[in-house]
Amino acid sequence: MISSLFVVIFSFLLLIGSIPTTIYAQAPLEAPSPSSDDTSPAPKTPKYAPRDKLLIACGAQEDVDLPDGRTFKSDPSTVSNLSSDEDVKVSVDTLPSPLKDGVPSSKLPPPPPLPLYKSARIFPSASSYKFPISQQGFHLIRLYFFPLPHPSYNLSNAVFRVTTENFVLLHDFTVHYPSPIFKEYILNLTSDTLTLKFSPKKNSFAFINAIEVISVPDDLISDTASPVPPVGNIEGVAKHAFEVALRLNVGGPLVSPKNDTLWRTWHPDEKFNTFPQGSKDAKIDPSKVKYPEGGATMYIAPPWVYATAAEMENAETIEANFNLTWKMPVDSSYDYLVRLHFCDIVSVAMNDLYFNVYVNGMMGVANLDLSTQTMALSTAYYRDFVINSTTIANGLIVIQVGSGSDGSGDPNAILNGVEVIKMSNSAGSLSGLFDVEGNYMGAASGSKTMKVLAVVGLVMGIVALLLVVVMFVRWHKRPLNCQRNNSFSSWLLPLTTSHSSFLSSKTTSITTSRKSSMFGSRKSGMFASTNQGVGKFFSFNELQDACNNFDENAVIGVGGFGKVYKGQLDDGTKVAIKRGNPQSEQGINEFQTEIQMLSQLRHRHLVSLIGYCDENSEMCLVYEFMSNGVLREHLYGSKLNAPMPWKQRLEICIGSARGLHYLHTGAAHCIIHRDVKTTNILLDENFVAKVSDFGLSKAACLMEQTHVSTAVKGSFGYLDPEYFRRQQLTEKSDVYSFGVVLLEVLTARPAINPALPRDQVNLAEWAMSNYRKGLLEKIVDPNLQGTISSASLKKYVEAAEKCLAEYGVERPSMGDVLWNLEYALQLQEASSKTEAAEDKSSLLIPLETAPIMGVDGVESSSAPTSDDHTEVGASAFSQIANFQGR
Ligand SMILES: *[C@@H]1O[C@H](CO)[C@@H](O)[C@H](O)[C@H]1NC(C)=O
Ligand SMILES: *[C@@H]1O[C@H](CO)[C@@H](O)[C@H](O)[C@H]1NC(C)=O
Ligand SMILES: *[C@@H]1O[C@H](CO)[C@@H](O)[C@H](O)[C@H]1NC(C)=O
Ligand SMILES: *[C@@H]1O[C@H](CO)[C@@H](O)[C@H](O)[C@H]1NC(C)=O
Ligand SMILES: *[C@@H]1O[C@H](CO)[C@@H](O)[C@H](O)[C@H]1NC(C)=O
Ligand SMILES: *[C@@H]1O[C@H](CO)[C@@H](O)[C@H](O)[C@H]1NC(C)=O
Repeated sequence: MISSLFVVIFSFLLLIGSIPTTIYAQAPLEAPSPSSDDTSPAPKTPKYAPRDKLLIACGAQEDVDLPDGRTFKSDPSTVSNLSSDEDVKVSVDTLPSPLKDGVPSSKLPPPPPLPLYKSARIFPSASSYKFPISQQGFHLIRLYFFPLPHPSYNLSNAVFRVTTENFVLLHDFTVHYPSPIFKEYILNLTSDTLTLKFSPKKNSFAFINAIEVISVPDDLISDTASPVPPVGNIEGVAKHAFEVALRLNVGGPLVSPKNDTLWRTWHPDEKFNTFPQGSKDAKIDPSKVKYPEGGATMYIAPPWVYATAAEMENAETIEANFNLTWKMPVDSSYDYLVRLHFCDIVSVAMNDLYFNVYVNGMMGVANLDLSTQTMALSTAYYRDFVINSTTIANGLIVIQVGSGSDGSGDPNAILNGVEVIKMSNSAGSLSGLFDVEGNYMGAASGSKTMKVLAVVGLVMGIVALLLVVVMFVRWHKRPLNCQRNNSFSSWLLPLTTSHSSFLSSKTTSITTSRKSSMFGSRKSGMFASTNQGVGKFFSFNELQDACNNFDENAVIGVGGFGKVYKGQLDDGTKVAIKRGNPQSEQGINEFQTEIQMLSQLRHRHLVSLIGYCDENSEMCLVYEFMSNGVLREHLYGSKLNAPMPWKQRLEICIGSARGLHYLHTGAAHCIIHRDVKTTNILLDENFVAKVSDFGLSKAACLMEQTHVSTAVKGSFGYLDPEYFRRQQLTEKSDVYSFGVVLLEVLTARPAINPALPRDQVNLAEWAMSNYRKGLLEKIVDPNLQGTISSASLKKYVEAAEKCLAEYGVERPSMGDVLWNLEYALQLQEASSKTEAAEDKSSLLIPLETAPIMGVDGVESSSAPTSDDHTEVGASAFSQIANFQGR
């Protein structure tokens, strides 16, 4: 580490020493020819001297030198350009260990560990940097974020907006430890100043580690592009703001800022190439790459990008005809500028290579002949496409190249580089539907899908009259100190979302599942694109009215966070209101975690958040009301008047398992619940199980990489012993807790019962020791005796036993558990069918032996991975069951 630092500093000194300082004076836009004293075959990256070059290491006491040779200015020398009410800085000597290896963020990994992440400025209130701009036109703006530890601010909890004069760059933005986030924008700056404004969300704060603004050649982005779908030409491209979503050096290694003309980073394409066995890498010496007159320049992409490509593996040996395919995940509520880079480094003669280029399944260029375009081999060429958001399916942009029909040589196709660049929407935003002023622009937005429009229209139509009336009433009753509600149009949004939540929370029964998914997608679409997700904002008065001024008689539960009240909103919706204790730090954290988690999650088996209140130091969360309360009460609590039959218990376990499986695999980050227990499984009016209480949840993918031990939290009796020992959290801890839940459901006794003899206090130990002694009947709930098919019971207890394995790695995934429970249910149903058909008891033999073998074989290899697949799995089971029944 020290030696590499030395090398960096040494080479930096060399660089300063060898380059005349005048080279930085003006902007020589033409690429200088490689200098003759360079002995390596590598072309020297041309020195680009931007007119505007603002490099700021926010909060750093001293200037920061980067490995690419540039220096970011210290905080003291740039603080004059900052207007902020408070002066809060943070810096560390060494970055936390995970960062040393450069942890990749979600889509665009940041460049390797930059010293820029070692300091930051924190803004408790709206603050802005103002920079003089001497060259109007396109600029690259790069923002660096990493949540450093600070004694009084937890930077992982910062929620804020970043805007310029004309565009929204980030909205409701958060950065979670330990992943640094790097954002890159391309903006046409049209005035002589640039203001970068950081606005914290209410009760939060903002921060930034480093800012980079450099002017770039204006021809970097041209005003016209080929549209997808392909009709005519698109003009007016350049009036947008852009955010670089992905930049790939196809068929080659990472190209770091040091080797790029504009200090860009180009990532390898392996992750996105979906047919790697059909492609092979090609490369030439970068110094052989030529740039044509009036075409691509070194600033479009450096020679390192054009010198490598993916081409087709010998077409005959794979199959007669195929496409090379790259699939890149994007936020499908935006249009994209996609730039494809080509350079024919594979042909030996001109006009040998003809290929088709497809974008999102549509023909982008037919029979592209690079020789005709560039008049030479090994010459740089690029094409721009504008992708309409309506053509993005499954959140993926798909680029394909396949051999054309006119080629005289072997069928082949190549691709050298891809840039996927998000274009600002009609709100002038690259993040959400709020404009620079903070006004909601969704209704006027042109880039929504027809489906969303249709559903919005329908909902609006039905409730329009009601809306207008209620809206005016509320507009008059609005809280005065509530900044969020001080414009009429922003008032409209929370109201409409509240009605959609109301509708979707009503559609929980199976018969209306189609309707439910319609509303579900409308809702998640709106939430995803606005990053809002938290549903309605309630005033405290409204909630007081809803639950009779928090009457003690309305209390339906008490948790660590505070009491839970039953309430009814003005529109008649029944809700559960969790009122937090604002004095407790723990409470505030859990409140925020719960809002953050639930806003990303929508699932039939997770309890849904309708809205929240955060006003006058009151914190409340408003959920859909679950009329049958918590699972525990139905097992051995107050609601035991009618013990649940085995089949219903299985269905509840399956529902909860689905919810947890979705948490672990379905969301953007895998999420660990951390507090799975029978009081956190709620039942609606149809006894559909929903997992609740996300106050302790963690985004798991992030956790795995940190060696910071987390304080052990959870509930006794459910706590994973391995987590307790090693304090390292994985999703297998939830699996353990769920194993205890399974036993609780079977035995109808608490996880811990201190009143019992010592060897019986802990449910997991007691049940498993009896099971291993073959005394299963001793532990089964007496209410269930004689009603469970022995095959079903066997499968069920096996599943519970696997969940309770000592080590996390030995425990199954939630998907496997789900599979086993579904199987147990099918075995139960099959046996009750055969019992009903009286005289066919002989069928019991094939039922309980042969099929189990067959299905067990499948089981290990085809665990369902998503909710859809489990539906498929279930229907496969029904076939098995029906077959057995016959
Ligand atoms: C700060 O502002 C002053 C005057 O507005 C300007 O001369 C100076 O270059 C700015 N510094 C930076 C780092 O932008
Ligand atoms: C900061 O907040 C995050 C998310 O809410 C939490 O996971 C983390 O433990 C907190 N860190 C500290 C030091 O409190
Ligand atoms: C930037 O915007 C200005 C004003 O809209 C326009 O005149 C100029 O041509 C734009 N620059 C580029 C490179 O598109
Ligand atoms: C970057 O440039 C150096 C020489 O300047 C060369 O040795 C190195 O291979 C290049 N790296 C990449 C990834 O292109
Ligand atoms: C290549 O992809 C395009 C667009 O998806 C498709 O129409 C075409 O049939 C594919 N070609 C081959 C040979 O698979
Ligand atoms: C995208 O397509 C929709 C419908 O086809 C159209 O209304 C909209 O204008 C298009 N957007 C752009 C940016 O071309």
